[in-house]
Amino acid sequence: MTDVLRLVQGTKVVGGRPVLDAANLTISRGESLAVIGRSGSGKSTLLSILGLLDELTEGERWLWGQRVEDLGERDRAVLRARRLGFVFQNFRLIDYLTAAGNVTVPMDAAGTLTRRQRRRRADELLDELGLAALRRRRPRQLSGGEQQRVAIARALACEPDLLLADEPTGSLDEVTAAEVLRLLRDATRERDCALLVVTHDTAVAAQMDTVTELVDGRLRTVTAPRGRRAQRLRGEST
Ligand SMILES: Nc1ncnc2c1ncn2[C@@H]1O[C@H](COP(=O)(O)OP(=O)(O)O)[C@@H](O)[C@H]1O
Ligand SMILES: [Mg+2]
Repeated sequence: MTDVLRLVQGTKVVGGRPVLDAANLTISRGESLAVIGRSGSGKSTLLSILGLLDELTEGERWLWGQRVEDLGERDRAVLRARRLGFVFQNFRLIDYLTAAGNVTVPMDAAGTLTRRQRRRRADELLDELGLAALRRRRPRQLSGGEQQRVAIARALACEPDLLLADEPTGSLDEVTAAEVLRLLRDATRERDCALLVVTHDTAVAAQMDTVTELVDGRLRTVTAPRGRRAQRLRGEST
């Protein structure tokens, strides 16, 4: 399998304390992976580092066989824009743009499609996420689940190879969360796009192919097969 991403001996010191401590992680093409950990364990820090939004103190990151530490800021920005997609807990939509306008933003920035193509693509993505009727609404006229679906459409707009999601269902009720998670999984699986979700929620993590725990700055893969894995995640002995 092709590695999409590798973190090798990644260390991040924040406020004099190692939030990541020689952590290792690999994501393969088409894989969905969850990183679980308690609040404050460093999940968001890890996601920012893997998304090239923050720096490692020590260690290295590899994306599609390129060592990120060897790349300049410009090349990193290109990787980020062309190959990564981001989804956040609080959606981060632009208030004054419609749903379709929000989905178009990354395509406008990339500048590779005509205006007409960008609009069509935004409409197709909103259709796929069940939002066809809501494309002209602004974020405040949408429910939380709808806003997160718009954010997923936006994250997919530039056809990323890796989608990074930070507590993507953390602001949603249980039923809406399950629906959003299913859409996220289906949309990435269909595209053979790798998906990394960081979450404190074991029910969310259990939906991913692989589950890794972040404890004391270290990443430990929870390797048991599905049934046993669910038990392990609930803290039961096997
Ligand atoms: N900008 C920052 N300045 C100082 N400390 C920070 C900053 N961001 C995060 N931290 C600290 O780093 C640790 C990990 O935070 P974070 O990655 O947000 O954890 P999580 O997402 O798992 O809740 C916490 O102890 C937090 O207080
Ligand atoms: Mg966090």
